[in-house]
Amino acid sequence: MTDVAAKPTDSLTVRDNRTGQEYEIAITDNTIAAKDLGQIRANEDDPGLATYDPGFVNTASCRSAVTYIDGDKGILEYRGYPIEQLAEKSTFLEVAYLLIHGDLPTKEQYENWVHEITYHTFVHENVKEFVQGFRYDAHPMGMLMASVGALSTFYPEAVNIHDADNRHMQMVRMIAKMPTLGAWSFRHAQGKPFVYPDNDLSYTENFLSMLFKMSESKYVADPRIAKALDVLLILHADHEQNCSTNAVRSVGSSQVDPYSAVAAGVGALFGPLHGGANEAVLRMLRRIGSKENIPAFIEGVKNGDERLMGFGHRVYKNYDPRAKLIKKACDDVFEVVGVNPLLEIAQELEKIALEDEYFVKRRLYPNVDFYSGLIYEALQFPPEMFTVLFAIGRTPGWLAQWNELITDKEQKIARPKQIYTGDRGLEFVAAEERWA
Ligand code: CMC
Repeated sequence: MTDVAAKPTDSLTVRDNRTGQEYEIAITDNTIAAKDLGQIRANEDDPGLATYDPGFVNTASCRSAVTYIDGDKGILEYRGYPIEQLAEKSTFLEVAYLLIHGDLPTKEQYENWVHEITYHTFVHENVKEFVQGFRYDAHPMGMLMASVGALSTFYPEAVNIHDADNRHMQMVRMIAKMPTLGAWSFRHAQGKPFVYPDNDLSYTENFLSMLFKMSESKYVADPRIAKALDVLLILHADHEQNCSTNAVRSVGSSQVDPYSAVAAGVGALFGPLHGGANEAVLRMLRRIGSKENIPAFIEGVKNGDERLMGFGHRVYKNYDPRAKLIKKACDDVFEVVGVNPLLEIAQELEKIALEDEYFVKRRLYPNVDFYSGLIYEALQFPPEMFTVLFAIGRTPGWLAQWNELITDKEQKIARPKQIYTGDRGLEFVAAEERWA
């Protein structure tokens, strides 16, 4: 207990009304250390006060220098650089370098980085065999999650997570191989032969080639499409402590290899409340079918029977800056491939929702997923592939966060507390007696 009279300014004075005791708790970076609450006890047997925070809505789990978000102002920055500038002037691989290394590369560093990534795009031939072993209708996210996890068996040295060179090698491999795994999952579902990486192409062009190449000797992507896809990957590259990044960090905190940690991230991203939302948006728009049905749909949302997918965000309560940039990419893509007919429904839905009190009061705005699905569909991706694209984009972010976790001395194995609500000390009666 601290002398309250001599309290430092950056502190919280807490009075425990059960005991009348006062405590001084230091405030650092606008947070209090949860462990400091542990000193607050009602009696000697009391394990100490803890916080209850399902979904971590008001709990910082780490210090991080990777991504900054101001949800109220709609700001998103990677390593201090605004997302708008990166989307306009950078490339996905440069952004990946920035996220992982913390600084923009020199020309030489960039060329080495691109070379390293390009020359690690191939996967072991056995990977092909087990991807082929999935059922014909397997969801590509399930295939991606399994195959990225399986990479740990090809690179057993990846467990040496405290060796910086080794970590670098695995990060390069994962960024390089995710498009190969994603594209092969897609080709498998389509019953088409797998296309090997083409090292003459840029990251995004090569991905498009592995997805769509047929009998032509070289796949040539429309540069506007390749650029739009590159921008989409940049927009998804990191988003601080979201559900999948938290999964990567949580699993990574056990000091497992990074392939296993990233596989956990892919699993988290698969969920409809996270990366699966853009797939859900498309299904929703298709179900709505026409503009006339929007008011009835909105009523359903307000009655709690439906959720307006692609709206709302845990952090952004004003607007999602990524949604604005995606709208712009939408225009670029539709210029090449023609307008997606669902765009009209989406725009009308957005307009109605933004004026409706239910959404205004709850500060629900379109998020990154509201328009991304429309672009992906226009690019001939089936909805099951949307989250795979998100996962490929998010991989550098997951890895940057994982790398930060491993080198952060304050981090421990993730192990939250619980409030136990079950029975205690019951007498066990063996089955034969209970069933007699
Ligand atoms: N449609 C209808 N009502 C909503 C929606 C929505 N999309 N989102 C939130 N609400 C309501 C919610 O019912 C609650 O109302 P009430 O106060 O009356 O109970 C209120 O708004 C607060 O919502 P919440 O569920 O407490 O907010 P959260 O921060 O826990 O959830 C969210 C955030 C993204 C999971 C949620 O907004 C949602 O389910 N949105 C739809 C799914 C979606 O688009 N997800 C993609 C997120 S962006 C991609 C990513 O970064 O993963």
